[in-house]
Amino acid sequence: MGKRYLIFMKKAIYPGSFDPVTNGHLDIISRAAQLFDEVIVAVIRNPDKKTKFSLSKRKKMLKNCLLGLPNVKVNNFDGLLIDYARLREAKIIIRGLRAVSDFDYEFQMALTNRKMAPEIETIFLMTDYRYSYLSSSFVKQIARLGGDVSALVPGAVVKELRRI
Ligand code: PNS
Repeated sequence: MGKRYLIFMKKAIYPGSFDPVTNGHLDIISRAAQLFDEVIVAVIRNPDKKTKFSLSKRKKMLKNCLLGLPNVKVNNFDGLLIDYARLREAKIIIRGLRAVSDFDYEFQMALTNRKMAPEIETIFLMTDYRYSYLSSSFVKQIARLGGDVSALVPGAVVKELRRI
């Protein structure tokens, strides 16, 4: 028998820019929290795209929404994700999948990470269908143009979006 993965009793990393966190992200985090002993939500400090919210705001909004999940921690990282995973001794990266359109990018990222770090596995969790269209970019656009985002993001984020 080949390698066996015991996904329970393990640490997983859920990375992203979370600019800002949406109900879709929270859905993935709560699914991950049921599968793993510890989930580290890893917020990238400087993503390739410029963020609307500062690192500390993005982390604060996440922390506010995750108070009910004691096995979930919020942290930040710089540089390569696999280096951060190794630093935290996590062997699993979680990514959410919404629709087929996510697949190309996620496939490329997972295989690139596997090439660099074969010991780290990427696991995809399917988001609830209610959030399959949801993205942080659209949330920001709707908020900027005066639309109602209260069904798309948690209350703490609605407040922050009203300020920008
Ligand atoms: O929420 P996002 O923007 O889809 O998250 C993308 C993220 C932050 C997970 C990804 O860009 C990342 O891991 N960046 C760190 C740099 C890195 O490791 N690059 C190699 C992976 S292809």
